[in-house]
Amino acid sequence: MRISVIGSGYVGIVTGATLAEAGFKITCLDILEEKISDIKRGISPIYEPGLERLIRNGLDSGNLNASTELEKHIANSDVVFVCVGTPSNEDGSIDLQYIESVSKTIGKSIKDSEEDIVVVVKSTVVPLTTEETVQKIILEESGRKRETVGIAMNPEFLREGSAVDDALNPDRIVLGCTDEKSKTALMKIYEGHTCPIMHCDPRTAEMIKYSSNSFLAAKISFVNELANMCDKWNMDFERVAEGMGMDSRISKQFLRAGVGFGGSCFPKDVKALRRAAKNDGLSSEMLDATLSVNEKQPEIVVNMAREMLGELKNKKIAVLGLAFKADTDDIRESRAFNIVEKLKNENAEVIGHDPQATETFAKETGITCTDDLEEALRGVDCVIIQTEWDEYKSIKPEFLCNLMKKPIVIDGRRTFDNGYFTDSDVEYVAIGLGN
Ligand SMILES: NC(=O)c1ccc[n+]([C@@H]2O[C@H](COP(=O)([O-])OP(=O)(O)OC[C@H]3O[C@@H](n4cnc5c(N)ncnc54)[C@H](O)[C@@H]3O)[C@@H](O)[C@H]2O)c1
Repeated sequence: MRISVIGSGYVGIVTGATLAEAGFKITCLDILEEKISDIKRGISPIYEPGLERLIRNGLDSGNLNASTELEKHIANSDVVFVCVGTPSNEDGSIDLQYIESVSKTIGKSIKDSEEDIVVVVKSTVVPLTTEETVQKIILEESGRKRETVGIAMNPEFLREGSAVDDALNPDRIVLGCTDEKSKTALMKIYEGHTCPIMHCDPRTAEMIKYSSNSFLAAKISFVNELANMCDKWNMDFERVAEGMGMDSRISKQFLRAGVGFGGSCFPKDVKALRRAAKNDGLSSEMLDATLSVNEKQPEIVVNMAREMLGELKNKKIAVLGLAFKADTDDIRESRAFNIVEKLKNENAEVIGHDPQATETFAKETGITCTDDLEEALRGVDCVIIQTEWDEYKSIKPEFLCNLMKKPIVIDGRRTFDNGYFTDSDVEYVAIGLGN
């Protein structure tokens, strides 16, 4: 089976590299020359544990190829995965420009061919998009008979930071096929997996993805609201979460309080679902609340800094962690942006630290960023932890005391256990910790 993956970003390159590892002949396609030339040289275009090794394996075995020649490779494919971005428009609605453009390219590429092809949408798209946009454009552009083009929606559930493992060992696979052709091809592609495989129509598959992300985002905001109450009433939300998590209906996952969710998926997907519902006259109060709680969380750590230091003007503050979560270099919608902006509005002097994401963050914000922790900590009045990188978990209290002007740690991610700094000179405050 010859497979093309269109869009070689987080989802596309992980999909391509893991399918190549499983033995399929994969061509990763993108319009960005730089990305493709990196992949061809065995360099991962993103930071993701284990990914570069898989890319190199794929290149060595000849199973993985990369190209910017979209039409040529699509025309020679049995299956095409669509993995391009689906960002937000100003009003929060889904921006389908890349989906539409790729659908046109697929249509053009298969115009002169008689061979069957299966097109699988992996990008996160609002319900009905696969049937009413992707399928429609491909058939119009190609002039092909419907029976010769298989169409399916196969949402991606990988988490950045553990994307390779998630793609190799998913919890579930959802196949929203419109025809037997796409179902047969996808069952062949996923035959090595032992997890449950759910079959449904494309719109159900699309809704499963949005519902899953919105539920997890809502859980985070709900937990954050509870943690803020715990702060006020002087108790540690982690203990509350421990008790909650013992209920198997609630589960231990996603019960950590913090500065809120960021990343390329939760914020935009909740906004897109909310907008799609509003456009059809449906209410979305849970989604509204999810987003509004999330917007307020970054303010809490800035307020903590003010309480500890007084006026923030000319105070030197290190923001530790710029990526939206650990083990990724992705800064999209990172809460670090909100925190840095608020600190700068109060004329604080801000330095950013991250093991992987300094370059892009510095470019977007203009603040000084470093991947050297000592440099970030030297002479600062306090640190705010925004990402729970392992590197921060192992920081020793003496290290902070020796380098910082004032050893004050404001933990926006509950990185440290309560009591970690007890016998030291470090002053430690955290979201949901109480006094
Ligand atoms: N990042 C995640 O963790 C994740 C997880 C699950 C689902 N998703 C969804 O998957 C989709 C892709 O997300 P991502 O994070 O990989 O995006 P991304 O921005 O990292 O990658 C998208 C890639 O598509 C390329 N592209 C754009 N237009 C193109 C075109 N016409 N032809 C070829 N390539 C083109 C871009 O150059 C880019 O490399 C989105 O819908 C997203 O919501 C993302």
